[in-house]
Amino acid sequence: MPYAIRHMRLEDIPQVAEIEREAFSTLWPPTAFKRELQDNKLASYLVVYDVSRRQEEESGVIPPSPENISPSVSTLQRLVSGMKRVLNTNDGTAPAFYIAGFAGLWVVMDEAHVTTIAVRESLRHQGLGELLLIALIDLAMQKQAQFVTLEVRATNAIGQALYQKFGFVRNGIRPGYYTDNHEDAIIMSTERITSAVYQQQFQHLKEAHFKRWPGNLRRHTEESMVRESS
Ligand SMILES: CC(C)(COP(=O)(O)OP(=O)(O)OC[C@H]1O[C@@H](n2cnc3c(N)ncnc32)[C@H](O)[C@@H]1OP(=O)(O)O)[C@@H](O)C(=O)NCCC(=O)NCCS
Repeated sequence: MPYAIRHMRLEDIPQVAEIEREAFSTLWPPTAFKRELQDNKLASYLVVYDVSRRQEEESGVIPPSPENISPSVSTLQRLVSGMKRVLNTNDGTAPAFYIAGFAGLWVVMDEAHVTTIAVRESLRHQGLGELLLIALIDLAMQKQAQFVTLEVRATNAIGQALYQKFGFVRNGIRPGYYTDNHEDAIIMSTERITSAVYQQQFQHLKEAHFKRWPGNLRRHTEESMVRESS
């Protein structure tokens, strides 16, 4: 499947909230994505989406056939509105793309803080978490941050492995940080992302990523779904 990254939009929120619930079952309250997108000037949120699949394909809308069309007006109306949803949403826009994961970044001064990152459980182990992290680090560079930091649960070995791969090192602990189970948070951060050493390592990791996962597109916008050759 071809996957691409773009900035999160309001229309993505229902899918993103679903992925967040699935990934962070103990998280309460859920992130107020609408407020984050509209009001938080420090925040940037990205989604990774399947460029070949629209959300409505998941909804199981039944196309009309002689067997399932009854003379009842309400049944016909339901079928027509279902078909309309496949082609277009009510407001005339195309149905939302199928979102596979999302990630967030807050940039304060020279520090970019990864607030969240998650991939649908059914789509993990296909490089999408890595694609999101690459996009976040790229974004941090664009925003002229010098360091990328984050907190991760002490028991989250998968998250830590992903971050370590991209040069994050442990540099502190917040004891009992997570209020649901009083688990410690491990603080991780990169070295200076503008340093020649980090840039070189990051470029190398990026090249390796796009070679290993040729379905992942380099461009971060829907408009440029062109796969670049490396
Ligand atoms: C963390 C998460 C985003 C990774 O997404 P993913 O798409 O499955 O990860 P990728 O396929 O891109 O894997 C990238 C790297 O992550 C690490 N990783 C992924 N799955 C792993 C596993 N089962 N065991 C160990 N490391 C793993 C590896 O370093 C991997 O690189 P490699 O393939 O070269 O070994 C995903 O597991 C998730 O959504 N988890 C729940 C939410 C969460 O914990 N988020 C982090 C909060 S701080």
